[in-house]
Amino acid sequence: MKEHTALVTGSTSGIGLAIARELAREGYRIVLTGRRNALLKDVVEDFRRQGYDTKGLVADLVKPGEAEQLFAETLDWTGGHLDLLVNNAGTWQQSAVEDITREDFRSLMSLNLEAPFILSGLAMKTMKRQRKGTIVNISSVAGLEAWAQTALYSASKFGLRALTQSLLAEGAPFGVKAFAVCPGYVATPMTAGARVSPGDMIQPEDVARIVLTHLSLSPATVLKDVVISRLGAED
Ligand SMILES: NC(=O)c1ccc[n+]([C@@H]2O[C@H](COP(=O)([O-])OP(=O)(O)OC[C@H]3O[C@@H](n4cnc5c(N)ncnc54)[C@H](OP(=O)(O)O)[C@@H]3O)[C@@H](O)[C@H]2O)c1
Repeated sequence: MKEHTALVTGSTSGIGLAIARELAREGYRIVLTGRRNALLKDVVEDFRRQGYDTKGLVADLVKPGEAEQLFAETLDWTGGHLDLLVNNAGTWQQSAVEDITREDFRSLMSLNLEAPFILSGLAMKTMKRQRKGTIVNISSVAGLEAWAQTALYSASKFGLRALTQSLLAEGAPFGVKAFAVCPGYVATPMTAGARVSPGDMIQPEDVARIVLTHLSLSPATVLKDVVISRLGAED
């Protein structure tokens, strides 16, 4: 039997790093990726020291063509097989609608929504051929509801849930699964300086455990829009 292989975007920090660690512990061969080469090198070295089989690939998913190149290089390394794609890389912008420029819109959407569309399409082709695979999209509670100054981010995260629902419908006849995770505040560099203290936030490892739980389910079972909330909080 082939080993399990995964591509986790934004896996040098926060939620993506925690997911990659849990997968590595489970024996997955993983492609780690992010923009910062030095950070990526450190993370890959750390994984290898622990005996995990990993490949580091630098990619800026905002730039045209880099998602496609990342996917092609991933398949080169895995020998054409992919069990899991985690669309995790993302960014946050807090702005009133009247302050959002076309450039803001394009830049955030290209990372949070366009790159997941491109990578999911490519992964779907591979997974349908295998008749097996899972695509995980890291959405947000802001993908279920929008508040003042979250329109841009929320639109991208609502969009990820739409992508997930279509992937699920298109993949089901081929045994390919898709699911979206919708966490509230998670203690990562993205939320540094937020009004909630890191100790009161969801931990990145909690999100990782949900992903691993989904992977452990029987072939006919899926989770849909898993909401992870902070105890006693509404966001
Ligand atoms: N933290 C939260 O409270 C929270 C809650 C709900 C959902 N989420 C979602 O969870 C995901 C991960 O967030 P996080 O909090 O773990 O963030 P984080 O710690 O800031 O990590 C972001 C990761 O994405 C990579 N990245 C950023 N821009 C990129 C680009 N243009 N191209 C390729 N990679 C890029 C970063 O590496 P480089 O900077 O080196 O590129 C890093 O590895 C995001 O989609 C976020 O929207 C977060």
